[in-house]
Amino acid sequence: MRILSGIQPSGTMHVGNYLGAVKQWVSSQNPDAYYCVVDLHALTLDIDPDELREKTIDCVATLLAAGIDPEIATVFVQSNVAAHAKLNWLLECVATFGELNRMTQFKEKSGRQKGYRVGLLTYPVLMAGDILLYDAEQVPVGDDQRQHLELTRVLAERFNSRYGETFTVPVGYVPHAAARVMDLQDPSRKMSKSLSSPLGSLYLFDEPSEIEKKIKKAVTDTDGEVQFDQKKKPGLSNLLEIYASFSNETPHEVAARYTRYGDLKNDLAELIVASLTPIRNRYRELRSDPAQLNAIITLGAKKASAIADPVYERAAKAMGLIGG
Ligand code: AMP
Ligand code: TRP
Repeated sequence: MRILSGIQPSGTMHVGNYLGAVKQWVSSQNPDAYYCVVDLHALTLDIDPDELREKTIDCVATLLAAGIDPEIATVFVQSNVAAHAKLNWLLECVATFGELNRMTQFKEKSGRQKGYRVGLLTYPVLMAGDILLYDAEQVPVGDDQRQHLELTRVLAERFNSRYGETFTVPVGYVPHAAARVMDLQDPSRKMSKSLSSPLGSLYLFDEPSEIEKKIKKAVTDTDGEVQFDQKKKPGLSNLLEIYASFSNETPHEVAARYTRYGDLKNDLAELIVASLTPIRNRYRELRSDPAQLNAIITLGAKKASAIADPVYERAAKAMGLIGG
């Protein structure tokens, strides 16, 4: 099964990224899986160039530490495969302003800044190209990417009907639990790399004491009954989902074992520390060997280009570009 997914190298990976996306990438990895660190997407916001370089390598190392095996799946950096930027233009000439202007994430992000970059508007087109270049059948993502994925399908179908059968129309895969991990301090908004309060996001490489503190201080409610109910008990239900995703259970199963919030929180902190410690240790090892990381990135670019370049040529030719 051809799989493609991507993650931005801006900021530090949090438990939302891990449970919503990366954990699925690890369990569905196969020789036909392509995982992309989307550095071009990170340029939609103002990021320091040195920081982007560092974060891109950090992100590759984190994916490997989380369990992606470069001898099985392909991990690559988006800007190393020129076809992404090239197909982006072709697809910008297929997408309409209206459909991009309607995207929820665009409305949220553009509303927060004056003079936002045009890339913030066209970003879902670049993402559609990432997916279509690999003839991806399945795209494992968190809940917040559903709308972008639907747009990808619309663009692929529009292209195919206007220019002839060119792209595979992909299907999204959103996990059952923890598809939208919420901020621990404000369960009405999602855990995010940039916007959370200091105690709101759990990062993959937080120290055990920080994890304990953040879980202990996580906002719940005062009625004291352990029950999975996202509407009435968003904070507690978020903790139950995080727990269930780490322990491969359902949130209801977890809830049935507890009567006290304190016990649930203690066990959850322990579970998270036990799950993340090996990832943190592997990350440290990998990050201390830049030559090996570079070799993996170079190989990833070669393997990804071998798939993406012919698909780009197919699309360019279908639109009437003479190429060559
Ligand atoms: P990003 O960090 O925006 O590049 O996201 C990378 C992946 O993590 C995407 O598949 C997102 O849907 C997923 N993701 C981001 N934030 C969350 C969250 N709070 N809960 C679940 N999944 C998330
Ligand atoms: N837009 C995604 C996000 O912010 C990241 C992304 C870029 C992506 N290209 C992709 C995800 C292709 C899946 C497939 O989370």
